[in-house]
Amino acid sequence: MTGKVYLVGAGPGDPGLITVRGLACIRRADAIVYDRLVAPELLAEARPDAQLYYVGKGEGWETVSQDDINRMLESLAVRGLEVCRLKGGDPFVFGRGGEEAEYLATRSIPFEVVPGVSAAIAAPAAAGIPVTHRAQATSVVIATGHTCSGSAGPAWEAAAGLDTIVLLMGMKNLPAISQRLMAAGRSPATPAAVVRRGTWPDQQVVTGTLADIAERARAAGLGPPATVVIGEVVRLRDRLVNAKGAHAPGAVGR
Ligand SMILES: C[S@@+](CC[C@H](N)C(=O)[O-])C[C@H]1O[C@@H](n2cnc3c(N)ncnc32)[C@H](O)[C@@H]1O
Repeated sequence: MTGKVYLVGAGPGDPGLITVRGLACIRRADAIVYDRLVAPELLAEARPDAQLYYVGKGEGWETVSQDDINRMLESLAVRGLEVCRLKGGDPFVFGRGGEEAEYLATRSIPFEVVPGVSAAIAAPAAAGIPVTHRAQATSVVIATGHTCSGSAGPAWEAAAGLDTIVLLMGMKNLPAISQRLMAAGRSPATPAAVVRRGTWPDQQVVTGTLADIAERARAAGLGPPATVVIGEVVRLRDRLVNAKGAHAPGAVGR
């Protein structure tokens, strides 16, 4: 009998930010196929006899190809196993969860998606930056700074007009993307922040403006994995992190 694949979001880093259902999947699974940004504490929850497969990808490079990952999920499920496909953040936010779900659906392999807390929301939150705010931002776009073709992403002109812009995988192309946003009319003085390893104990945050955030992040040595936030909401960090007695989730203030 065919098993089942659970596409599980592990959350942004802090192991406490996985969902209750996601943790149950890890604890139950016969096999766990996991990515690079998954906390070791979560893998420690696996059954002692569970099969663990690391298939992590970096920014712009792959250790195991997506085709091989798809085939691995299929073959484990066909053997009747319950498979936990554990991915950083949310599986359907730039996590190729959609591709894996499509592959499984086409082959009639039972699967279920267990959403996760995306770094797109959680990394800014952990740095004291709400991505929306009634007074300052009523729209937010989540974009990748790194496309399949390696070019600097589409639609920056449209994104420039939205209140908050959240960039994932954007560090390499940040200088070019900032230029595109300014060329599209976004003020160079727009507040911006880079949050590296948000919610992990070694979280780092750099703030600046659209005009200088790429240079500031470079000067501070901030590489991936980092989330970039551009918009007036970044100003709230000063109030939320520095206010006496203020508490925000995660590693705020680090
Ligand atoms: C392949 S995408 C996966 C996104 C993931 N599915 C999610 O919903 O968070 C990986 C990118 O997410 C961002 N990212 C993941 N974890 C992060 C963290 N803890 N702090 C900041 N950014 C993070 C970085 O931009 C990284 O390059």
